[in-house]
Amino acid sequence: MEKVIHGTRIVLKKGDITEEDCDAIVNAANSSLMGGGGVDGAIHKKGGRIIHEECLRIRKEEYPQGLPEGEAVITRGGNLKARFVIHTVGPVWRGGNVGEGDLLFNCYMNSLMIALRNGFSCIAFPAISTGAFGYPLREAAKTAFSAIRQFLEKNNGKIKEIRMVLYTDEAFRIFSQVFSEFF
Ligand code: APR
Repeated sequence: MEKVIHGTRIVLKKGDITEEDCDAIVNAANSSLMGGGGVDGAIHKKGGRIIHEECLRIRKEEYPQGLPEGEAVITRGGNLKARFVIHTVGPVWRGGNVGEGDLLFNCYMNSLMIALRNGFSCIAFPAISTGAFGYPLREAAKTAFSAIRQFLEKNNGKIKEIRMVLYTDEAFRIFSQVFSEFF
């Protein structure tokens, strides 16, 4: 499923984000930046040691207390097809009344701003927070597309392609439904 919105192609696809050949793929990390399971584990495993080493440096030099929820940082992609990985920490779902939506919005917006600042033409996102962090898929999709739409309204055509890479049939179905409501 895809559409061109404000000069940017938005692509929804089912697949493994570690196979994407965008300039950057986004990692649903945790604040330690030391890897984990899910997409975080897959990216670190396939990307290799260089990702871990750069995350370690970021922790020491910039975020000794850990990367806060909603923030994003960039490392090289190591052995991945993508040249870079943008690591962001999504919120844990706690019922939706303690600011999770704003934090998830910031994950997408801050990742897009890093891509913009680096002059990337293509960035791929997973469904941040919808796995181990328990964020409901439909709520996550609404927040993701709200952030993407707001970014595009202010940055017409500056990023050529934004991909949402869904890992499960259910995620693809729900994100596709919400995508049609937004665009
Ligand atoms: N490609 C694309 N999407 C994937 C992949 C993959 N290879 N693997 C998992 N996903 C999907 C999941 O199906 C889910 O929809 O990514 C989404 C986010 O799930 P998680 O990876 O569990 O991430 P999240 O819910 O943000 O939880 C982050 O889990 O892995 C740990 O270290 C990570 O502590 C952090 C927490």
